[in-house]
Amino acid sequence: MDKKILKQTLVLIKPDALKNSLTGYILSQLSEFHTGLRFAATKIVHVNKMLAEEHYAEHQGKVFFPSLLEYIMGHLHYPGEPWKHRVIAIVYQGPDAVKKMRDIVGPTNPHIAREQKPGCIRALGTVVPIKDAEGNVVGERMDNLIHASANDSDAERETKLWFKPNDIPPFMHAYPTGISMDYYFLKDNKLCMKEEPGSLCFIVPGQTVWQSDLETLHSLQQGISSSCSIASVVAKYFINEKPEND
Ligand code: RTP
Ligand code: MG
Repeated sequence: MDKKILKQTLVLIKPDALKNSLTGYILSQLSEFHTGLRFAATKIVHVNKMLAEEHYAEHQGKVFFPSLLEYIMGHLHYPGEPWKHRVIAIVYQGPDAVKKMRDIVGPTNPHIAREQKPGCIRALGTVVPIKDAEGNVVGERMDNLIHASANDSDAERETKLWFKPNDIPPFMHAYPTGISMDYYFLKDNKLCMKEEPGSLCFIVPGQTVWQSDLETLHSLQQGISSSCSIASVVAKYFINEKPEND
């Protein structure tokens, strides 16, 4: 099939959008009628720390990073209500998927979105000061309702971070897959190949896996350092699996 038709992008409807009942509005703005893009996959995700840290890895170390994790994990909009901690993750597919979604989503900062692109989705968001323990303002958090991948390579990384191949109909796969020949287990956030007390199996022989994940696993298995972390491979296998103390 034409590669342009298979172009994908990852959208997250964030906890502030859910809290404000903006889901229906956002989905209709993103509909095939308005964007020419189709759903390839969707799921409701209770975002755990591993997934949040991987998704926003590029912001590690910035002053707003801890608050960004709390935000995407739903802790800030639903304090004390862990059953409401969730986002809606959607893969959209079609020509110019990334650009079309970024356009309709608008600038990162909702104040700028209102000024520069009234009517975009993020124009409905807000900016909240981040304070230190003494109450001094040290930065700002952007409650901007929605995430959309910034470019094709982020779209690939993010789609593979949130979705397993079999979350997506086979004819809608945009990235190569392979079949695992092995069992893979996770123990203490490390990869192991044999079941051990306390280990969790996440891939079994015969399972369809992203080809790039198989390559990362083979490198890690042989002790070769890989540009991708074990968390970037396993996070999707533990989505909605392991309740955390939150
Ligand atoms: P996103 O990834 O959520 O779609 O947003 P984006 O591409 O427009 O912006 P990005 O730079 O990737 O930032 C990711 C999220 O981090 C928060 N942020 N805060 N205080 C700040 O300077 C700042 N910069 C980014 C926002 O919540 C943004 O959506
Ligand atoms: Mg981004």
